[in-house]
Amino acid sequence: MFDLPVLTEVKPKQKSSQILAETTKVYIETYGCQMNVNDSEIVGGVLQAQGFVATHKPDDADVILLNTCAIRDNAERKIYDRLNHLKYYKKRNSHLVVGLLGCMAERLRTQLLGEKNLVDIVVGPDEYRKVPQLIESALHGSRGIAIKLSKVETYDDIEPLRTEGISAWISITRGCDKFCTYCVVPFTRGRERSRPFTSIVDEAKRLYDSGFREITLLGQNVDSYFDKDDNKNFADLLRATAIAVPKMRIRYTTSHPQDMSDAVIETMGEFDNISKFIHLPFQAGSNRILELMNRTYTIDRYMNRIHKIKEVMPNCALSTDIISGFPTETEEEHQETLNVVREVRFDGAFMFKYSPRENTKAWKMGDDISDEVKTRRLNEIIELQYSIAKEINETLVGTTEKVLVEGPSKRDASIWIGRTDTNKVTFFPHIDTKGYVIGDIVDVTITKTTSTTLNGEIN
Ligand code: SAH
Ligand code: SF4
Ligand code: F3S
Repeated sequence: MFDLPVLTEVKPKQKSSQILAETTKVYIETYGCQMNVNDSEIVGGVLQAQGFVATHKPDDADVILLNTCAIRDNAERKIYDRLNHLKYYKKRNSHLVVGLLGCMAERLRTQLLGEKNLVDIVVGPDEYRKVPQLIESALHGSRGIAIKLSKVETYDDIEPLRTEGISAWISITRGCDKFCTYCVVPFTRGRERSRPFTSIVDEAKRLYDSGFREITLLGQNVDSYFDKDDNKNFADLLRATAIAVPKMRIRYTTSHPQDMSDAVIETMGEFDNISKFIHLPFQAGSNRILELMNRTYTIDRYMNRIHKIKEVMPNCALSTDIISGFPTETEEEHQETLNVVREVRFDGAFMFKYSPRENTKAWKMGDDISDEVKTRRLNEIIELQYSIAKEINETLVGTTEKVLVEGPSKRDASIWIGRTDTNKVTFFPHIDTKGYVIGDIVDVTITKTTSTTLNGEIN
């Protein structure tokens, strides 16, 4: 990996850096996965420490940063569309600084600098400490780029600037070493590394003390978490966190079918404050396709993990990721995918059409399944999955669920929203006299359901 120097042709300063920062409002817009959401908070933390001012209104901003995703072609198209729109902001304010952060920035690098005569700075996921410096140069008219990937950066000393409610993200690993053949992440986020064990547990405690009631531990493959210095794996981390913050609801994502150990599953079963929900992507139902994807497990291994989960936690909810139309996928292999969906009965799924990504191994396999076939297969998977999720949720009518209260719903302030221990979104009429507040866990009796949501009444 190479690093282009930050352009340093800085014009004479009229103001000191501190004053410059204090009068500079920064707006960050986030695309992609939860990791990117947490990264935007890290960038917010880095900027705040330098005195910059965060704003939620792009109209007010002196600096607009888009934290981008590169996972599928449509994720990148979205960013180009957004840049077209940002041209109007630049027309109104010719001093506006526009920056691209994240995975697309890392993938396309210098190609993006000056894009649409708009992009002043480009910063990859391991270079966020340089954002203040790059903004300062850009405010003085110099474009800059920082895209070096690191083997060690975990931002463990940065306090993310969190704004959202009672739930917080904590990244426990960065990067990915799995090299699934379709995936850009190992290239955009670099080598896998784990954040120190104690810094995670300490952050969880601080979050509880400052009012957070739910944390999600994040990694592309949480099961490969390992702190060498402390000799602690992911099961150790789950246990220590569950003990350190006994009243915090603890979630995590993403699990990997090959690496998910019995110890992780058993630890989940042992602690009530670890949410009974697992996101376990299977991607494809055929062993031949799994091998082409370099997923490193077979469907037997996958089902073995599902059986272990159900044995330890019979009511654990499950979700998954599925890709339709991987190169050379036959109709029979597509049926195998549908069979896994039928057999496991997932509570939820993220389902995608295969999108070829330049420079990945699968890119070289061609893209021989037509868009029409991919779409048809995808729709079959979606239809089956939705009907199963609907049936599963119907069985919950009449049961009582432990719902973590998040607050009024967007559409109707008298209807409040929360999530069950199994991560199902639940709506219920707010009753003032019941005395609960946002962040409490309440009992809700389920009265009505859809394939994705529950409705109920607070007990
Ligand atoms: N680390 C996680 C997920 C990362 S990306 C894991 O391994 O499961 C989220 C999902 O996007 C993947 O699980 C996969 O289903 C999907 N995805 C990744 N690359 C893709 C591509 N090139 N085309 C279509 N879907 C893709
Ligand atoms: Fe991509 Fe595979 Fe890593 Fe997930 S495990 S981020 S799909 S390479
Ligand atoms: Fe997208 Fe990067 Fe996440 S490619 S899905 S933002 S790791």
